[in-house]
Amino acid sequence: MNRLLVPLAGLFILFSSSVSAVHAETVSEEQPSWSIAIHGGAGTLNRDRITPEKDAEIRAALNKALEAGSKILKEGGNAMDAITETITLLENDPNFNAGKGAVFTWDKTNELDSSIMDGSDLSAGAVAGVMATKNPILLARAVKDNSPHVMLSGKGADQFSREQGLEQVKPDYYATPYRLKQIEDVLAEKVSIADVDYKFGNVGAVAMDSDGNMAAGTSTGGMTGKRWGRIGDSPVIGAGTYADNRSCAISATGAGEYFIRLGVAHEICTRIKMDARAIRDEVQKTVPTDKGGVPENYVDPNRLMLASKDVQKIADDVIAELGQLGGTGGIIFATPWGQAGYSFNTPGMYRGRATSDGAMSVSIYGDEE
Ligand code: GLY
Repeated sequence: MNRLLVPLAGLFILFSSSVSAVHAETVSEEQPSWSIAIHGGAGTLNRDRITPEKDAEIRAALNKALEAGSKILKEGGNAMDAITETITLLENDPNFNAGKGAVFTWDKTNELDSSIMDGSDLSAGAVAGVMATKNPILLARAVKDNSPHVMLSGKGADQFSREQGLEQVKPDYYATPYRLKQIEDVLAEKVSIADVDYKFGNVGAVAMDSDGNMAAGTSTGGMTGKRWGRIGDSPVIGAGTYADNRSCAISATGAGEYFIRLGVAHEICTRIKMDARAIRDEVQKTVPTDKGGVPENYVDPNRLMLASKDVQKIADDVIAELGQLGGTGGIIFATPWGQAGYSFNTPGMYRGRATSDGAMSVSIYGDEE
């Protein structure tokens, strides 16, 4: 990313775009050179529902994953490798609904979904309903890197996984007693199939590396008791996952049907991209022109950025629209300007973020940072 101070340094502009009032800031040496955000699912995560032991266990797992991704970025590695490693660790942890610990289908099987996207070239890979790959995020990445396709499903995806030499596991690898009890409760009608907390959950990561490249990935077991080959938002590029160097990287968690209907991940990136363009156009208007209307110079869009509060507002607005549809959940975001954060409409979200300036935190409840 271009980190040069610019002739416009110190300029702070407030204007109205077609969308909203937007605050332009100049990119400075102060901006983080890399950033990463992770999640492990959102829901009714109140303190009275989580024991202190489980709270500590979850935070340790989030910290481990966040540190692994941060290490890669700190050492100059790329965003794609950082999120792949981070999500692999979360998939291996039985606390989260992805990989080991995945929820069960109506037929008491585990069918896993995952996707990954590279913001530098908009390349993407996704898998749905896979049943034997230890780490579905590695399969999504293999689809992106080694196939001519974007999305594979079911038996074909499992076959591709074997052909790629990815680690295969027996069906009982994914099973945990906790998830088994969930499906048994659903089948015995002890809990409502509509209980979102019981059904959903997933893991994801987004990052920007020191070259300004962005990546996003998401992985899940889907929803407890899913039937008929149901596929949620996690493997759907634009709904559960999106990355574009010009705007943002997003990974979503929550009630997938609503995220698909709203195209949440792409929607947030598009709004950021449009506002970033509006800023460039407004600043360009301030550059003097000659008699023929030709500007003295052209504003470099890489030297302008959206203020953090504007990025947060865009994310919050889209999550509010999700809520108006009846959807619950949240997203994590990273921007080309080093910002990393979250937005969610549930009481809590398992989450964490870290940036090159030394900031690092993991949180669970809505009242934490
Ligand atoms: N967000 C995960 C799913 O709906 O499957």
